[in-house]
Amino acid sequence: MFNGQKAVNGLLGLSAVFAALAFAGWGSEGAFWGMVILFMIWGAMVVLPIGGADMPVVISVLNSLSGWASCGIGFTLDNPLMIVTGALVGASGGILSFIMCRAMNRDLLSVLLGGFGAEAGAGAPGGPAPAGTVKSGNADDAAFMLKNARSVVIVPGYGMAVAQAQHALREMVDMLKAEGVKVRYAIHPVAGRMPGHMNVLLAEANVPYDDVLEMDDINRDFATTDVAFVIGANDTTNPSARNDPASPIYGMPVLDVENAGMVMFIKRSMATGYAGVDNPLFYNDNTMMLFGDAKGMCENIVKAL
Ligand code: TAP
Repeated sequence: MFNGQKAVNGLLGLSAVFAALAFAGWGSEGAFWGMVILFMIWGAMVVLPIGGADMPVVISVLNSLSGWASCGIGFTLDNPLMIVTGALVGASGGILSFIMCRAMNRDLLSVLLGGFGAEAGAGAPGGPAPAGTVKSGNADDAAFMLKNARSVVIVPGYGMAVAQAQHALREMVDMLKAEGVKVRYAIHPVAGRMPGHMNVLLAEANVPYDDVLEMDDINRDFATTDVAFVIGANDTTNPSARNDPASPIYGMPVLDVENAGMVMFIKRSMATGYAGVDNPLFYNDNTMMLFGDAKGMCENIVKAL
């Protein structure tokens, strides 16, 4: 990001449109290549500053546009197959963008007009880490706390998918349930890397549908939950989205895990999630970090239980 970026982008876009008009008017080869090069630079310049929660939205918008472009070329080439497939890609990408915008509390129109992304200098992703110390524990500590809890809410995220930890997690939950612990799953609408990502993985592990609750249905229950068990999730629990207007993910609804009596985070390190933003919850008094691979940690908790 740099000062005057919007003006530069505007100038580049106008020049590209001018070159396109020149090409359409006079059929000049120079104007054609000018248009191609200017639009390529303009495309990169417009997308480069976009970060945080807007990134997946812009990727999905670009997917959709690729479909509409191919649909348009289908008309030029009089090719019905290209028109139909292009329209399908364009429409499904459009619907996906709309769903993601709603989940992230973004306005699709402002996304399409390019009025989004973090402002220059605001909430630098991966910026200075919040001060404080981190409490870490091991599988034995986690097993002890989980077994003695009355209610546990599991919050899965991208790391669970990477580690393919859903089966080990299910086994752990079965053991807790056998001990009389009430266990449910909380699903953030953009947890993982595609809508429904977590639901599919949990269904694969035969987790009962009734135990799996959407964010809006469970968020208030964290206040009466003993342990929030966050497995490979990060951005979707980050309170900066609620409290810090300078954060690149500000405005995105998040799971209120910090309201639980205790929060456990399974992850391999202090690294950030997709949005590249530090999570201040890691430093909270009621947080216990369980460093390790999600699957390995669940298996160890099962052993300890
Ligand atoms: P993220 O914020 O991306 O965090 C995932 C965490 O998993 C990371 O901090 C990582 O920390 C940890 N992890 C990775 N591999 C692991 C492993 N093998 N074992 C244990 N932990 C592991 O995940 P989220 O909370 O699910 O949020 C999703 C993010 O993706 C959002 O920012 C969302 O906007 C974005 N996004 C979503 C979509 C859709 S539609 N769902 C599409 C594109 C992007 P370590 O490296 O320290 O382990």
